[in-house]
Amino acid sequence: MNTQLNSEVEGWEVRNVNLSRIHGDDSGAYRRLLDHINPNEGFWIADLMCGQASVSQRILDHYESQGKLASIFFSDGYQNQFAKAKENLNPYKEKGHMVTGLLEDIRSFPLLGPSLDVIVIKMGLHELRKEDQKEVVKRLMKNLTPSGDLFIWESMGQTPEINNFFKKVVRKKDELAGYRSFVRDRYFCTEEEIIDLAEKSGAREIEKIYEGNNFDYVTRVLSEADFGGDTEKLRELNEYIRSISTPKIAQSIRMNDSGDSIKMHFAKKIFRIRK
Ligand SMILES: C[S@@+](CC[C@H](N)C(=O)[O-])C[C@H]1O[C@@H](n2cnc3c(N)ncnc32)[C@H](O)[C@@H]1O
Repeated sequence: MNTQLNSEVEGWEVRNVNLSRIHGDDSGAYRRLLDHINPNEGFWIADLMCGQASVSQRILDHYESQGKLASIFFSDGYQNQFAKAKENLNPYKEKGHMVTGLLEDIRSFPLLGPSLDVIVIKMGLHELRKEDQKEVVKRLMKNLTPSGDLFIWESMGQTPEINNFFKKVVRKKDELAGYRSFVRDRYFCTEEEIIDLAEKSGAREIEKIYEGNNFDYVTRVLSEADFGGDTEKLRELNEYIRSISTPKIAQSIRMNDSGDSIKMHFAKKIFRIRK
């Protein structure tokens, strides 16, 4: 089994960012996600492309608040993210929860048969090329139990036009950061494209369970995370954003340009997909 992605030394191998800081306030979105997860003991819940396992931790806390034990399966393709996830989840294991992990590229995620009751991919799908997203969603659907749910949590532009703008901004940021594989692979779907992926994977029910305009994109925060505080790169990113924005887009995303930093608000959405 593949234990580590073959990538340039960049991107997720070296990216050590506080994801909750760069993803904006996730509290409302988590509340909605947890409202849709029945904390049944015996359910297998998978947190895929888990990063530091923040989804797993929220779910485990949700079970604990009801005095129940959870069974969590977490997976990421990158060694340094996986190691942090493991470390963050160890205390739960010691409390008696079933917690098991797999270091694996999601594109070769094993076909386990219909064994997972819930699968969550939070802010992961966009890391994959569009053609890989299609195959991955199909594969994951095969791993869901007949009454299982796949939750896809993504950020995107509010409309296809804003999404094009959003994709250009992220690409420029990744270029300046030197993340070549991100520039090559990342694909941020619109809502319509996610629905299309789900339909093509045989879903019979797709529901948007959360939508908020709270994916805050603040260039200074990203510069600290991804440019090592290089102010020249931050200036270049700000200039680029000004050059491609229109008054309509700026108004829709409540753009706030303070000169040395630009704040924008994109959409955060969660979809529940059922077979
Ligand atoms: C934006 S982070 C999201 C992490 C976490 N789900 C969260 O929201 O906090 C994307 C994660 O996807 C992982 N990843 C990227 N490409 C992957 C692949 N092909 N297979 C598995 N994991 C991958 C990265 O290592 C990273 O942890």
